[in-house]
Amino acid sequence: MVDQTDTEPILQLRNISKSFAGVQALIDVSFDLRRGEIHALLGENGAGKSTLIKVIAGVHQPDAGEIIFQGERVSFPNPLTALQHGIATIYQEPTLFPDLDIAENIFMGHQPVLPVTRRIDWHKMYSEAERLLNALGIDLNPRTKLRGLSVADQQMVEIAKALSFNARVLIMDEPTSALTPQEVAELFRITRQLRDAGTAIIFISHRLEEAFELADRITVLRDGRYVGTRLTSEVTPDEIIRMMVGRTLEDLFPKQEVPRGESALRVERLTKAGAFYDVSFELHSGEILGLAGLVGAGRSEVARAIFGVEPADQGRIWLNGREVQIRSPQEALSMGIAYVPEDRQQQGLILPMTITQNITLPILQSFARAGWVDRDREESLAGEYARRLDVRAAGLWQRVRELSGGNQQKVVLAKWLATRPHILILDEPTRGIDVGTKAAVHELMSSLAAEGMAILMISSELPEILGMSDRILVMYEGRVTGEFTRAEATQEKIMMAATGHVQGVRV
Ligand SMILES: Nc1ncnc2c1ncn2[C@@H]1O[C@H](COP(=O)(O)OP(=O)(O)OP(=O)(O)O)[C@@H](O)[C@H]1O
Ligand SMILES: [Mg+2]
Repeated sequence: MVDQTDTEPILQLRNISKSFAGVQALIDVSFDLRRGEIHALLGENGAGKSTLIKVIAGVHQPDAGEIIFQGERVSFPNPLTALQHGIATIYQEPTLFPDLDIAENIFMGHQPVLPVTRRIDWHKMYSEAERLLNALGIDLNPRTKLRGLSVADQQMVEIAKALSFNARVLIMDEPTSALTPQEVAELFRITRQLRDAGTAIIFISHRLEEAFELADRITVLRDGRYVGTRLTSEVTPDEIIRMMVGRTLEDLFPKQEVPRGESALRVERLTKAGAFYDVSFELHSGEILGLAGLVGAGRSEVARAIFGVEPADQGRIWLNGREVQIRSPQEALSMGIAYVPEDRQQQGLILPMTITQNITLPILQSFARAGWVDRDREESLAGEYARRLDVRAAGLWQRVRELSGGNQQKVVLAKWLATRPHILILDEPTRGIDVGTKAAVHELMSSLAAEGMAILMISSELPEILGMSDRILVMYEGRVTGEFTRAEATQEKIMMAATGHVQGVRV
């Protein structure tokens, strides 16, 4: 690690402001980044983190303030200019081309060319791609198509692409949110390797423990303003949380004890070839059943089968003690089941529509009278759920596309809660949600269970599973490998089952 105290900043932002129609996203923010440091950028949903890095990356132009890069005042009219200066960004949403292969993605827009003909030098492109992947210690073939690669591998391709531009600044916006613990470790290894070679890195995450493990310094934004910068070694998580939310948070996981009610959902030997096998469990009203496991264990597929998106091939389902067939999401909804998917952008939201329109979409019919929608009732209902989930926006009329990532996630939750389901399936309910709102979502889940709702919660975060679940089911490669009560469960037992060990024996 480079000595922090006397290192000249490679990048400085001075008094940056940026507003969008009706929203002041950044107000007078200053920030500096040193060579050879990993700098975590933290803050609540909508604090302005993504906007700040998009200003650095040339996606947004600041309304005021200046950017100083390697001692000179610069402006980046577009992302390519920033890249050519050596500033590379890995965004919250994927930006690669699924039908091109790895090498083509790495060299998109700057392919090596042959001297005279100026045609693409394919041979050089593939050998260079190979060299970059090797330098990172990544075992991928440059001729593999992007489609079908895991999120983790796609990120590795993005990092290789950044290196191909000789990036001196690498920015990563929530890179770990969809990775397994092993993949996170691998990403951290590579990030440290780049830091030690002198690259300056900005890292955004909602997981505080990641910032504390990885970063040399931490900067906090709140409501578009700069709050402060600290050396990680000289600050505690509590202090950082106070900087982020302006208060301390005590009980992050407040699941109340609720008497277990009647059986709400029972599945027996549910099987879908290639996805999951022989999955059986029972869920009672008032209960939160946690479904733990690694990314790719088949948990979302089970949820999608129960919700009728892609029904199972075999097995039986009972609702409130009565056997049912669920062939489509419409049928599932009409039976009182709601499913909040993990992928808010692709499955959960219609981005060009407003917050109100998104929240009321599944229940619009209930506002219709003789073909007319009662707009006042629609507005007030959307308003109620947006308030309960603390959706931060200029107004309910704002298009969901313009919301910060975490606030989009809250709208997805609001939309399904508004259907007042009897059975609620939540897939990674707090992914991308900040610590303060996370506590609010957990409190809401707990009170919904107390009102008699039955909740099936898929989560890859062990503290969330352990804190919120009355009972825990663990899956590995499509099969249930463990079941624990709240009292029995430990981090260790769950990790063992999630990696295919059943009572010490590998299956
Ligand atoms: N294109 C846009 N149009 C209008 N408002 C926007 C746009 N982009 C961002 N905003 C607003 O700017 C504010 C800051 O958003 P930003 O995406 O920077 O937050 P963030 O800190 O990255 O949050 P998260 O943790 O949820 O990703 C939010 O209020 C958001 O609604
Ligand atoms: Mg963001």
